[in-house]
Amino acid sequence: MQIHRDYPLKAHHTFGFDVKARYYAAPDTPEALHALLADPLYRKLPKLIIGGGSNLLFRADYEGLVIQPRFHAIDIVDEDDDSVTLCADAGVVWDEFVDYCVQHGWGGVENLSGIPGTAGAAPVQNIGAYGVEVKDVIYGVEALRIDSLQPVFFTREACMFGYRDSIFKHTAWKNNIVITRATFKLWKNSQPVTHYGALSAALHDCPTPTLAQVRQAVLAVRRQKLPDPAVAGNAGSFFKNPAVPCAKAHALAAAYPALTLYPANGEEVKVPAAWLIEQCGWKGKRVGQVGVHAPQPLVLVNYGGGTGNDVMQLAADIQQSVAAKFGIALEMEANVVN
Ligand code: EPU
Repeated sequence: MQIHRDYPLKAHHTFGFDVKARYYAAPDTPEALHALLADPLYRKLPKLIIGGGSNLLFRADYEGLVIQPRFHAIDIVDEDDDSVTLCADAGVVWDEFVDYCVQHGWGGVENLSGIPGTAGAAPVQNIGAYGVEVKDVIYGVEALRIDSLQPVFFTREACMFGYRDSIFKHTAWKNNIVITRATFKLWKNSQPVTHYGALSAALHDCPTPTLAQVRQAVLAVRRQKLPDPAVAGNAGSFFKNPAVPCAKAHALAAAYPALTLYPANGEEVKVPAAWLIEQCGWKGKRVGQVGVHAPQPLVLVNYGGGTGNDVMQLAADIQQSVAAKFGIALEMEANVVN
């Protein structure tokens, strides 16, 4: 396996900033990954594990070893009349996995069509869209410890999934494991989840859609709202939808009757961050080489030649104006690397 020095990362993260890694390697087998982690030359270096680089913000060059697992087998490990359990290697392109499942008639991930990234990265931020989160279908996650080189298995409960959150973003695990495989349990006769606003509108003329029709509808909605990273660099939603106390949300709804709120838990309600950002006048606004995507203001964009610091400055300005107007703190969803 080749280990590259001063390697350009522009093509390996979806914001497309001109940054480099001191070292970069893309192991294409689990054995190559193990050997790389065991190599005394790189043992002490900081390490960054990336999938499709679709949720990362680099502020500068990465002064360590970037590892991008490339192994990409999909194996059926169990099957009965109702369900199938599948293992996907970390390097499986997420949307190819979804397509494979849809083509076989296995339901559960079709709403997650078109999300950039890999199967190994999907559990980290518990990817979600159109009423489904990947936690709903994850059976378990296999990983390799960087310190001891020992394998470790996380059951779905041990992953501690939350809204765009998991144990892999926290505690000691964040910098000490490489996810090697994820296991999913999918259903052979599932009922598609079509209640989410934009998706139910897209399927208006199709009351009993097949998995393939749901996938096509999701892809169409995404194309309308979300920028293609090949055209304008972005990391999907840059902020999370904030959860606020019910009383505050209801006061907002009374003041703004068009506002749609979403239940979070018993005591809190989610306010769409896109709406808050739009109300503060940011929708479609461009600042130099970066800006706020007009069809979905939750997405910050690099039009070309922008930097991570440009995006961070824009994000800080947005956070400040939302806090000043609504008293609500917007939390970043994208992962700031350095
Ligand atoms: N809205 C506006 N103005 C706009 C666009 C949206 O006010 O210009 C408001 C509307 O009230 C709309 C609401 O925002 O009803 C929700 O918009 P949308 O359905 O586009 O979803 P979102 O909450 O903004 C979340 C996820 C997306 C995911 C969509 C669909 C987060 C942080 N983001 O966005 O995920 O695709 O739902 O399920 O939860 C991602 O994580 O990268 C991502 C794109």
